[in-house]
Amino acid sequence: AEKIIIDTDPGIDDAMAILLALRSPELEVIGLTSVFGNATIEVTTTNALRLVELEGNNAIPVAQGCGQPLVLPLGEVGTYVHGEDGLGNTFLPPPKGRPLSLHAAQFIIEALRRFPGEVTLLALGPLTNLALAASLDPEAVTLARRVVIMGGAVETHGNISPVAEANIYNDPHAAAIVFRAGWPVTMVGLDVTTRVVMTPDYWNELYRAGNTATDFLRAITPFYQSFHDQFYGMGGATHTHDPTAVVYLLAPELFGTQNLPVYVETQGRCMGQTVVDWYGQWKDLPRIDICLSVDAEGVLDLIRERLTKPIEE
Ligand code: BDR
Ligand code: CA
Repeated sequence: AEKIIIDTDPGIDDAMAILLALRSPELEVIGLTSVFGNATIEVTTTNALRLVELEGNNAIPVAQGCGQPLVLPLGEVGTYVHGEDGLGNTFLPPPKGRPLSLHAAQFIIEALRRFPGEVTLLALGPLTNLALAASLDPEAVTLARRVVIMGGAVETHGNISPVAEANIYNDPHAAAIVFRAGWPVTMVGLDVTTRVVMTPDYWNELYRAGNTATDFLRAITPFYQSFHDQFYGMGGATHTHDPTAVVYLLAPELFGTQNLPVYVETQGRCMGQTVVDWYGQWKDLPRIDICLSVDAEGVLDLIRERLTKPIEE
């Protein structure tokens, strides 16, 4: 199985993505690292612990990471999308476990050094921890197998602003560092994640499984659905951001990618925009793989299959 560290800001869709990864035998989750974003770092760390405990994956370590962007002051966190507790205002009992005393960036560096060439970093939140790790230990960057991020928007519009996707916007300087660091980066952004739409029927199909994971999703998702309805008028349907990035790891054949030079805007009104230089007019930009097309039905089928099956012993 592919060793992965999930860097995450849970977050309702992060929760679904983590459950999906933990239920996928192709992936060996060797740790979760938390970052601010959908809620404060205290809240996202607590939720990461809750998620490893939910289906008995308590042995998976959680390392707390950055509570604010590298350069900018902390802006508004995403509680209007994910709830005050990051999990749809379910206010669940506190987790039993504690995070490691190691910082997320240090945890990432140690894992890359312990398993050279083997570890994939899956980033589902702002890229602050990854940028910090790359800055602290540039050599460790060469030891990563690959970096897959949920973030960015190229041919489609933004979500947190007309031009920017939230994870990039929340720490654009970090994104610029991660794109330039030298490890292979794949961007699973809004170009594909907004095309994977979970309808109310789809959600109900999941809930019918009645297992720990789907019961949990049934509790946390209504808040996310009402955000999507108020903001986009989606009538109970939702986009599928972070889980789609997990599916990219499991079934890359469902995606069309292009390797392209990308600029991240770090200031002004267009802060957080990921601009592709289609004709190579701006020299010296880093090139990354960008998902531009997706077999949405294929993604939804795989997510359903994994989340509804009884958990194997
Ligand atoms: C991204 O922002 C967060 O709200 C979601 O968890 C996802 O990672 C979508 O833009
Ligand atoms: Ca996220």
